[in-house]
Formats: sequence, C-alpha cells, structure tokens
Amino acid sequence: MLLISKALRYGYMTRIDCCSDNIFHLTNGVMSYYLMADEDNIYSIYWGKYISDITSVVKSFEPEWSSFDYEEISERTEFDIFDGRRYTRPSIKGEGKYRIGKLKRVGYDIENNTLTLRYSAYRDNLEIVLKYSIYDSVIKRDVSLASKRDEIRLTNSLSGAVSLPRKTDGYLSYVNGRWLSEWQENKTKINIGTFIIESRKGVTSASSNPSVLISEKEDGEECDCWSIMLGYSGNWELDVEKTTLGTTRISAGINSFDNLLSLRPGDVTSLPSIYLAYSPYGKDSVMQEMHNFQRKHLIPKRKMCRVLYNSWEATGFDVNEENQLELAKKAASIGTELFVVDDGWFSNRDSDKSGLGDWFVSTRKFPKGLGHLIQEVKSLGMDFGIWVEPESVNPDSILYRTHPDWIYSIEGVEPRLARNQYVLDIGKREVKRYILSFMRTLLSENDISFIKWDFNRAITDPDSFANTDSREIWHKHVESLYSIWKTLREEFPHVEFETCSGGGGRVDLGIMQYANQFWLSDNTDPYSRIRMQYSAMQFYNPSSMMSWVTDAGKDLYSLDYRFIVSMCVGLGIGANISKYSDKEIAKAKEWVDIYKDIRDIIAEGKAYRIGNPYIDDVSAIEYVSNDNKDILIFAFADKYLYGNSISYIKLKGISNESVYMGIDGKEYSSLNLMHIGIPIKRDSGLSSTFVHLKRQ
Ligand code: DGJ
Repeated sequence: MLLISKALRYGYMTRIDCCSDNIFHLTNGVMSYYLMADEDNIYSIYWGKYISDITSVVKSFEPEWSSFDYEEISERTEFDIFDGRRYTRPSIKGEGKYRIGKLKRVGYDIENNTLTLRYSAYRDNLEIVLKYSIYDSVIKRDVSLASKRDEIRLTNSLSGAVSLPRKTDGYLSYVNGRWLSEWQENKTKINIGTFIIESRKGVTSASSNPSVLISEKEDGEECDCWSIMLGYSGNWELDVEKTTLGTTRISAGINSFDNLLSLRPGDVTSLPSIYLAYSPYGKDSVMQEMHNFQRKHLIPKRKMCRVLYNSWEATGFDVNEENQLELAKKAASIGTELFVVDDGWFSNRDSDKSGLGDWFVSTRKFPKGLGHLIQEVKSLGMDFGIWVEPESVNPDSILYRTHPDWIYSIEGVEPRLARNQYVLDIGKREVKRYILSFMRTLLSENDISFIKWDFNRAITDPDSFANTDSREIWHKHVESLYSIWKTLREEFPHVEFETCSGGGGRVDLGIMQYANQFWLSDNTDPYSRIRMQYSAMQFYNPSSMMSWVTDAGKDLYSLDYRFIVSMCVGLGIGANISKYSDKEIAKAKEWVDIYKDIRDIIAEGKAYRIGNPYIDDVSAIEYVSNDNKDILIFAFADKYLYGNSISYIKLKGISNESVYMGIDGKEYSSLNLMHIGIPIKRDSGLSSTFVHLKRQ
C-alpha cells in the first residue's frame, strides 16, 4: 500500500487548479476533488482517485435521464438555496420574503491552497463566501454569510453537501450510543433513501457523532474510502442520501430542527466547517489522514500528552485537601505529570444536588485554600488541573437564587431538571461575562495548567428572556461557548483544555479547535473501552482521547490488562491509588515509564486497526513511527478456544524489508510480521499484550 504521505514525498503537490473559468480541481496527486462553480450553482463533479482530465466525467452526467426525470447533475449541488425548482435538501432556506432565492456568482480567487467562491442571493442582500482549503488529503470547507440590508431569517442553514463519484455503492460506518455506551460502531449498506444521524439535544451528544466513513468495500480494506466530519457542538445533522438516479449526496450542518439563524445587517455568521478526507488505500489510510490533519492543522499544539491523574473515581464529590494530597503523593510516585481535581471542590458541592454555579473554593474542604494544595502538588513535581462546568447551575445555588432568569426556560412552564441542574443561557451577555469573569479569576489567581470542562445535561426548555425568537438559542449557545473558549485560550495560552460532556457527549471538530483532548466516556471498564477506542479512533486523533486506568472491573482484569488498554491512546489514571499496595504502585510506575517512552509514536505515528473487537476474538491497535523504526502493538484477546493459546496478528504498514527486534530480544523479519504475523499468547481469561518492536 502506497501511503499518501509517501506519494506526496515523491513530488506530487497539494494544489488547486483552475481548469476553466468555472471548474476547479483540488488535488494532492492521489486524490482529485473537482467542483463546478457556475453562475447560479455549485456542483460536485468528482471526488475520488486522482484524474487529470475532467472532461469525460462532466460528459458522463449527460445521458440516462428522460423528460420525466430531473437532470441528474442538478442533484449534485454543493451549496444551494431553496429555489422551488429542485428537490435537493437545500443548504439555505429563509422565511417570509426570503423563502425562495437564487445564487448569483460574484467572483472567485485562489490563494495559498484556498479557493474562495463569492456568491450573492436574495437580490444581492445575502453575501455568501465559500472557502475550500486543501491540506494534504483533507479538504476543509467553510461558509460565511452576511446580510447587507435587512434581517434574513434562515430556517435551514446547512454548511453544504458533497456527492460521491457517480454510481458509487458504499458502506457507511458511524457511531452511536448513550451515557456509558458511547462510540458503538455501526455499519450499513447505503441504500436508496436518506439515512440521517443527528443531535437535537443542543450539544454534540453521545447518541451520535457528526462523522461518517464510507467505504467502497464492506471490510474497508484496500478500497476507496471517504471520511466526512462536521465541526459543530450543537444541534447538527448529517444526511446520507442515495437517489434513484444513483447519486450519493452527503449534506451536513446545523440541524433544521427548531432552527433559526438570524442574519442581521452588519453581522458575519460562519456555518460549521465540513472536513473531507479521501484515500484509495482503505479505511486505515483515510483514518490516518484525518489524524494527521487534526494534529497538524486543527487541535491546539502542545508539547506532549501529559500522563494525568484524575480523582473523580477515587473520591467522587468527597474531595478535601487531605484525601487529594494522599492521592497526589501516590500519583507522583507512579510518575504522573498532571494532577486533576474533579467535581466537588467548590461551594457546598457535596453531591450533584447543590453548589453548581457558585465558583468559589470550599473553605470547609480546603481550609488552607486551593493555592496550598496546588503548591503541594507542584512540589511533588506535577502540574495542577481542575474540573469546571460553567454552563450549568443547580437550583440550590446562590447563582440561581440571584439570577433565576439566567437559565433557559419557557414562560409558564416549570423548567426541566436533569442531573439536578439547569442550563444557563450563555448567549446572554451578562451570563457570558459571569463565566469569563470567574474563569479569569480561577486561572489568574491559581497556578492551574489544565481545565476539564464538563457539561452534564442536554438543553431543554429552549426559550430565553434575551432573544426575540427563541429558536435562536441553540446556535447562540454554541457561538457563545466557542467565543468563551477562544478568549480563555488566548488569555491563558499555557492552560490546556479537555472537553467532556457527561462522558463523551461533546467530541467534534468544532470544539477540538480549542480542546487539546477529550474524555471518551464515563465507562472505564477496559473490555468496553477496547471497542469504544477502536471506534472513536476511526475519526479522532488517538492521543487526544483520554483513557484512565481505574478500578472498574478490578477483579476481572489484571492491572497489566487495564494499562495496556489505556496506553494505546492518551494515558490517565483514575483508580483509587491510595489503596494500592507497594507492588501495584511499582507495577503502575513501570507502565507509566514505558508510556512516556512511546507516547510520541502514538501522538505522531500512523495508527492501524487490526481485526475488529466487535466481531473478532483477537484485535489490535498498531502504531508505526513515521521513520518506520518503531512499531507498537496493543493486542487484545478473548479467552482461548479449543486449546489454541497462540494467535498471530498480521501487522500492517511496514514498507521496507527489514528486521525488527522486540524488547525480549526476539528478531522478526518485516515480511514475516506482515504475512505470518506476530505471536500473541492467550490464556483462559481475557488477555492483552503490548509489544514494542525496534528496527535493527
Ligand atoms: C461527568 C464526567 O464525565 C465525569 O468524568 C466527572 O467529571 C463527572 N461528570 C463530575 O460530575
């Protein structure tokens, strides 16, 4: 398999060609993305393997329709306005006098691998700027809208669509779940009709994630694969539609559910970005391209993924200086680099019933102040991090008692509680100011270098005292959240952020522009985690995906097993280590030391998913360093059957014929590793194996 990065090294160039006045070609020499920007429409012409001449493709749209059909090509719009003349799901549809519109091309330019298309609509009142930027194998599509004269109220505001090459048959992979069972991978053949995944909960949600992978072959091996991801943390939809004329069109953006995007004159509104990756070499390759893009161009840069300790599973809400310090000492002895105090450190927060919203340190729990604990943690050689949930409030809080009108609520209806809390209307100026102000105080008065930002419920009662039309609250919430994170990141550049929402409910490429890492799930049972990590990795950068070694299933899984599961992504520890024996502490330290040696390979290397833990009894995650010198294998096996205590795992992605040596001193030829496999020992229970091979 020729890796795309390698093809690029052989001299292909990422570039945008202007083939004619209206046909543009975005390419990296392996992938071609052709679009046609006409006077009154933009069409997806082709997105697949590199082709240098598009004439025949454009021609191929011409036949096969009768006077009873609509023209096939008109289904392949990339960004359209409801014009009453076509049946596509429109990107844009307005209300009132803006119900029907027509695009009008204004101009275009190409600069620094970005194609900018300028259009107008609604009798020149709406300015539309579409940007297509190419980064290796990933195309990022952005849209911004501005009204010139009067308010335009959009009920549909999708970011656009893309169509697969004509008559592509494909399989769609996506993830679903709920609290404790996020990231379950599903696959379906794309059939005629529309398949929708979405969130209507005001947050990305655990129910679904705005990411899909389409593969030409069911197993996704060595075939055309397309990965489509949306960067948005509110109500989103991703629609995969196969028409009777054979077009597969994927549209994505803000969900039309209860949507209103109001464009007031003078405002510029950006729609969520769409990220498109393609590879002809199969699902691992397209996954690697997405990882690369996220690392290089999207996720804020940091030196390394620090091994963290988080006290949530050990002490719950019962945090105090004494028990945190006891945990911190043990964490430091294991080699942990960042100590994080989770929920429960503020106000009268003894359970999830009170205190949320009152962001002052509990003097009962921390009589010497937070600063004292931080000093102690620092003197143990670790950085300090803390949990917050700024968007929510308990009714039993000073904040709520003082500002009952700061939450979302519908007049005359008792607002709905979830996890004993309400959601704050952060689109309101004073609420946003309050959040920024307490966060600034927290971060400037304390030596904190990590924030875990949680959001433990979905939005209900979508009405606000602040807005003229309550449908606006959904998008305003996201806009305000991004603006708060952006401000804090700019003002406190040394502070890293983790996104969390009752487990993995807010992971998407919108929030990942500001977050260094994400919390995958509150389910820390390693056997479930193997599957969740495998699925999430299909879309998201593995070293941003935090996985703690905890006491979940302690009696079922050895400490080694639990470490190997967590070490294949971003390692954290969440076990109650104050109860650990010296032997367990020593074992944990051994693993943490190994992790520190290999984490750069996980953060920068190429990931491969071997086997499928949902169906195979042996599966593995493999990483190959970019210089091919190191190979890491994290293998997981169910109990052995029929006395077969050895299984072989065939490695992927080793391009040169060479010899590798394991830490046990055993030598393996690269061809053997790929064609026969590396032996993995299994036993009568669940087993996990870690192997680090170095090229000789
Ligand atoms: C949900 C998160 O996923 C947990 O890790 C923890 O931070 C709790 N919230 C705290 O309330």
